[in-house]
This record gives sequence, C-alpha cells and structure tokens, in this order.
Amino acid sequence: MDSDRMPAALRRFDLTGRVAIVTGASSGLGETLAETLSAAGARVALVARRYDRLAKLADRIDGLAVEADLLDAAVVDAVVPQVADRLGPPEILINAAGTIFSHERAEDETLDAIRQTTDLNLIAPFRLAQAVFPHMVAAGRGAVVNVSSISGRVGVPGIPQASYAATKLGLSGLTAELAVQWARHHIRVNTVAPGFFRSEITDSLYDEERSAAWLRRNTPLPLEAGPEDIAGAVLWLCGDAARYVTGQTIVVDGGWTAR
Ligand SMILES: NC(=O)c1ccc[n+]([C@@H]2O[C@H](COP(=O)([O-])OP(=O)(O)OC[C@H]3O[C@@H](n4cnc5c(N)ncnc54)[C@H](OP(=O)(O)O)[C@@H]3O)[C@@H](O)[C@H]2O)c1
Repeated sequence: MDSDRMPAALRRFDLTGRVAIVTGASSGLGETLAETLSAAGARVALVARRYDRLAKLADRIDGLAVEADLLDAAVVDAVVPQVADRLGPPEILINAAGTIFSHERAEDETLDAIRQTTDLNLIAPFRLAQAVFPHMVAAGRGAVVNVSSISGRVGVPGIPQASYAATKLGLSGLTAELAVQWARHHIRVNTVAPGFFRSEITDSLYDEERSAAWLRRNTPLPLEAGPEDIAGAVLWLCGDAARYVTGQTIVVDGGWTAR
C-alpha cells in the first residue's frame, strides 16, 4: 500500500530509514525477523557465524552480513562499531541468537556448558545493548528486543534445560532494568518469550510422532507455529506502534503457559 494512503495506525509499524541489528539471522526466528524488519523499511545487519547463509539473505534483502561468533567477547564488542560504520547508527537491536548447549539433567550440567550458555544467551545480548546505547541516545530513540523462551517462566517436563532456562529468565530481568534506566532517552527494551516453534533446534521434536503428539496435547491453539508467528510481536515492539511499551516480556506460545 502507498504509505500516504496507509491509515495512521499502520504507519506506526513503518521502520523506514532505521538501522537494525538482528543476531541469529542465519536461520529460524532470527532469519524471519530480519526479513520482516527489512520489509518494514529497516536496513538490517545480519549477525551469526554461518557467513554463507547471511550473505544469501543479505543479497535478498539488501542487508549487511556480519560474521561473528558471539561466544567470543572481543568479537561481540566489534559488532556494533562495524554496523555503525557501514550502515549508520543502529536504532533497533534484536537479540535472537541463542541455543541450548546441554541436554543433561541439571545435576549433571558441566561448568563449561553453563558458562557457554550464559555467554551466548545473556552476556552477548547485554554487551550488544550496551554498545547500541550511545547511538540510540544520540538518535533520541531506540528499541531493543530480546528473544527469550517460555522455559524462563515454566519448567518443561522431559527436556532438561536448567542453564538455558536461567539465562532466558535473566533476559527478562535485564529487560526490566534497562527499560527503567533508559526510558528517559526514549529507548524501549522488551523481550518476547516464544513457546515451541519449528526451527533447526526443534525440528526433531516435530518430526518424531511421539514428541509431536506431546506438543499438540500441550498447546491449546491447534497450530504448528513457524518463525512467522513471532514476527508480528517483534515488529510491533520495534516501531512507534509500541512507543508506550517497555520493560515487558510478551509470551507467544499458543497458550502453553496459560494452562
Ligand atoms: N524454536 C523454538 O521453539 C524456540 C523456543 C523458545 C525460544 N527460542 C529462541 O529463539 C532464538 C532463535 O532460535 P531458533 O529456534 O530460530 O533456532 P536456530 O534456527 O538454531 O537459530 C539460532 C541462531 O543463533 C545463532 N547462533 C548460535 N550460536 C551462535 C554463536 N556462537 N554466535 C553467533 N550466533 C550464534 C545461529 O547462527 P549460526 O549457527 O550461524 O552462528 C542461528 O542463527 C534462540 O534464542 C532460542 O533460544 C526458540
């Protein structure tokens, strides 16, 4: 739709001219989020380790591929300066990179696995938020969206993930604190907490009949969610449509935690 004819309420989702950074953009939720922000007008920097996949997406959406292993603190610190140099000052940060490193029961998780989980899922998002802060202050606005998980809110029987759950709830605490500290600069910080979505980390759950049936039994909405089902919430949180929303964790889970 021609933007002049768009109703004012829809124009508030428009991100034209804003620079966005999306971590975890090489697959799954992050890839779809990057495509969505680009479709809304943002120029998007795509961050992950698999450069070939980022480069293909960058071609498709005219974005910037930034190869980075977010487990390496020095590499994390180099991301925002590189984006600011090549695309301009970032006004949107989506922290979607994250994973479960240990499938052990809590009592058996190794210190290494606990530390890696924390480095990727909690410390990297915090460091990136610190790095975009001065750019957002200078712009007089900004939106940070962290991608957590319902496992930061409820235990998930049968899929041990203690350190993962701890880091995901940690993102909600970080979100509330940054939101309050940075509100006076019009920087909003929110988290989306997905339930189960089909992606590389969950494919096997959907492909095995027993676990697929368990997912269906525990999800009130009779749908199989894909990355596009999180995109609307994130798009809303990035733009002026959510300019009065900060410090929140928005759960998108088909009703899993409502039971
Ligand atoms: N799918 C679900 O059901 C679900 C549910 C709740 C929460 N989540 C959360 O949603 C987010 C996206 O997950 P997904 O489902 O889309 O899984 P995914 O397809 O496996 O995506 C994970 C992303 O993180 C990136 N990543 C992993 N390790 C990295 C590292 N060391 N440095 C930089 N990037 C790294 C991966 O890129 P490279 O491998 O190229 O580095 C990939 O782009 C995660 O934070 C996950 O915890 C997913």
